[in-house]
Amino acid sequence: MEVFPYRLFLYKSVHLVEGKKVILGVSGGIAAYKAAFLIRLFKKAGAEVRVVATRNALEFITKVSLESLSGNRVYDEVFSPSNDYSTEHIALCEWGDVFVLAPATANIIGKLASGIADDALSTSLLAFNRQLFVAPAMNCNMYEHFSVKRNLRILKDNGVDLIEPAEGYLACGWEGKGRMQEPDLIFDRVSAFFRGINEGKGNALAGKRILVTAGPTYEDIDPVRYIGNNSSGRMGYAIAAELQSRGAKVDLVSGPVSVAPPENVELTYVRSSEQMHDLCMKLFPLCDAAIMAAAVADYKAEKARQEKIKKSGKTRDKLTLELVPTKDILAEMGRSKGSRVLAGFALETDNEEENARSKLQSKRLDFIVLNSLNDKGAGFSYSTNKITILDNKGEVFRYPLKSKEEAAADIVDKLEKHLL
Ligand code: CTP
Repeated sequence: MEVFPYRLFLYKSVHLVEGKKVILGVSGGIAAYKAAFLIRLFKKAGAEVRVVATRNALEFITKVSLESLSGNRVYDEVFSPSNDYSTEHIALCEWGDVFVLAPATANIIGKLASGIADDALSTSLLAFNRQLFVAPAMNCNMYEHFSVKRNLRILKDNGVDLIEPAEGYLACGWEGKGRMQEPDLIFDRVSAFFRGINEGKGNALAGKRILVTAGPTYEDIDPVRYIGNNSSGRMGYAIAAELQSRGAKVDLVSGPVSVAPPENVELTYVRSSEQMHDLCMKLFPLCDAAIMAAAVADYKAEKARQEKIKKSGKTRDKLTLELVPTKDILAEMGRSKGSRVLAGFALETDNEEENARSKLQSKRLDFIVLNSLNDKGAGFSYSTNKITILDNKGEVFRYPLKSKEEAAADIVDKLEKHLL
């Protein structure tokens, strides 16, 4: 269950965007309705929002909605008698701290990549010279088109923070990659940017190489079925992004997830615990530290069948699956860690701290991050997390409920203490 964005903001780092000036660019796709939620998130967190919209965007969401929610006039025409200045786009771009283009259609992405300025939004985008975030939304075939891919690459190469779309059901009836990310995730990305500026984190981890695992593993039973779990991967991805923002070189080994990949991180997707094991064993000796946030399956089918398992006869007899333990990647890394810093996760339902401490010791970790399923808002399906960190000196650090991005910052702070 994904938490509804309105309630979610309560846990967000309100102070990060408070007083900030956000230009929201809205182009003409069905996801334009999500701009309303995005404006609410920014406004409730104390930011000022001004909207620039294309003519087509206003076919999907009304100007009145955008103006009522933002509390400001929408800029949609270069030559409008109501503009304050004849160069409204310049005035607007001087005003904004960040520009968030959401949704970004293939058309506006193409214009931006090619330097075309023929309406209020495309002109403003070219006039803006601070941090730009782009959240594409389009049909999956359009998203995979070579020209769109090329244009996105140009944006990325020029410092745009690309918030990759999610996979799923698309309004056009297709299923695939192209659905605009949810407003709370876009809000998080912008908050994380301001966190970096506010804290002046600098490059404390420059020169360090760090391995991170994230997401679930899928253990195949037959060609169409597998044993998996509900891990979303968001915690591990947030850690990878945080490490990268502090200057580390990050190797992210991820199970199957639909989270947007963090920028400038070496990401490799794996499927099974065996594949995750093999890659981690290869990478760990090259790294200074590892944070293992993946929810690795503890058991797998003894032998995955080559053919699909069929129902047996009309009587539907009971089916027994023989499961065998997987390799414990973290424990194996603990045995060969040397002076490397090693951190693991524990998700517990009972005797939480006791169980976490015994994992810390048996796997020879420097620290372990404990999530309790008894804490409301913590766990796989939430955007928030409530963590406790136990370290190898016997110390316990308890944190309040925070967004996963903020929890990631706490975890990386702890890693820095052990590593530097
Ligand atoms: N882990 C791993 N390899 C496995 C299983 C877990 O690397 N085969 C790592 C996870 O990434 C996490 C930690 O170990 O950092 C979790 O420890 P674990 O003892 O596996 O926790 P649970 O799977 O919850 O174990 P249990 O069900 O016994 O509580």
